[in-house]
Formats: sequence, structure tokens, C-alpha cells
Amino acid sequence: MKKTVIALFALAAFAGTAFAADVIEMKKGVKFTHKAHQESLKDCTKCHTTAAGGKIEGFGKDMAHKTCKGCHSEGKKGPTSCKECHK
Ligand code: HEC
Ligand code: HEC
Ligand code: HEC
Repeated sequence: MKKTVIALFALAAFAGTAFAADVIEMKKGVKFTHKAHQESLKDCTKCHTTAAGGKIEGFGKDMAHKTCKGCHSEGKKGPTSCKECHK
């Protein structure tokens, strides 16, 4: 039992370094709920090129508006107006 607890702690500590923040603060007041998106979308490759995720090369306005807004309007779920994303 004790061993399991220690193993879980070790795992949590390790996972902490491998994963992104729950909410990523972006430019112009955008708060991106990374964790909520991971959980609801499941598929990391909706945004990342690999299932491991990580920094997205060339991430910025064009990519964000295409990917973020694109999915929200296609799926009719999630914000599509400026003020909903840019607080
Ligand atoms: C809806 C889009 C989206 C989904 C789905 C998503 N991510 Fe991300 N993720 C991002 C964005 C945007 C960033 C910030 C990228 C940047 O700053 O270059 C990020 C950053 C990360 C980072 C941190 C990079 C760093 O060093 O700060 C990791 C690790 C990561 N994601 C892993 C994952 C994994 C694993 C999954 C699937 C379980 C996943 N992501 C699903 C959009 C997404
Ligand atoms: C592949 C689809 C998809 C992509 C890509 C995506 N989203 Fe979303 N997003 C959603 C869905 C679906 C919801 C609605 C979740 C709900 O209402 O349960 C949502 C909700 C949101 C919300 C409002 C709710 C919350 O969690 O704060 C914000 C803000 C948001 N997304 C920002 C972003 C940003 C910024 C990006 C790009 C970095 C992004 N999204 C990329 C599907 C996506
Ligand atoms: C789905 C969320 C979302 C919507 C809707 C949205 N944006 Fe953005 N916007 C972002 C994200 C994410 C970034 C990239 C932030 C970063 O690079 O850190 C961004 C970047 C920008 C930038 C560049 C900021 C910089 O300093 O590089 C401008 C300007 C901008 N948006 C204006 C707008 C305007 C105007 C609208 C409405 C027509 C709009 N956005 C709608 C999420 C959104």
C-alpha cells in the first residue's frame, strides 16, 4: 500500500513536468483552457502535430484564428467573437 502511494507521487511529479499548464495565458488577454480542451476533445492532434504535444511552431494570430475559431464555428461550440476570446 505504502509503495503504491509513493509510486503515485513519483508519477504525478513526473507528469507535472511533461504537461502544459491547465490554463495558458496568451497575448491580448486570451486565456486558453488547455486542460478542458484536452479532456473534451481527447485527440491531441486536433492542434498538435504529434500526440505528445508541446510547443506549436509558428503559433500566433493566423494559426490561432484558423485553428481555434475554425473549430468553434464548425462545431458550433465555443467562442467565435473577438471579445469572447480577447478579454
Ligand atoms: C484545442 C487545441 C489543443 C489540444 C486539443 C491540445 N493542445 Fe496542447 N497546446 C495547445 C496550444 C495552443 C499550446 C501552446 C503552444 C505554444 O505556445 O507554442 C499547447 C501546449 C502544450 C504543451 C506545452 C508546451 C510548453 O512547453 O509550454 C504540451 C506538453 C501539450 N500542449 C500537450 C498536449 C497533449 C498531450 C494533448 C492531448 C492530450 C494536447 N496538448 C491537446 C493546444 C492544444
Ligand atoms: C477541435 C476543436 C477546438 C479547437 C481547435 C479549439 N477549441 Fe476552444 N472550444 C471547443 C469546444 C467544443 C468548446 C466548448 C466547450 C464546452 O462548451 O463544453 C470550446 C470552448 C472554448 C472557450 C470557452 C470555454 C472555456 O473553456 O474557456 C474558449 C475561451 C476557447 N474554446 C478558446 C480556444 C482557443 C484560444 C483555441 C486555440 C488555441 C481553441 N479554443 C481551440 C473546441 C475547440
Ligand atoms: C477563438 C478565440 C479567438 C477569437 C474568436 C479571436 N481571437 Fe484573436 N487571437 C486568439 C489567439 C489564441 C491569438 C494568439 C495569441 C498569442 O499568439 O499568444 C490571437 C491573436 C490576435 C491578435 C495578435 C496579437 C499579437 O499581439 O500578436 C490580434 C490583433 C487579434 N487576435 C485580434 C482579434 C480580432 C479583431 C478578433 C475578432 C474579429 C479576434 N482576434 C478573434 C484568439 C481569438
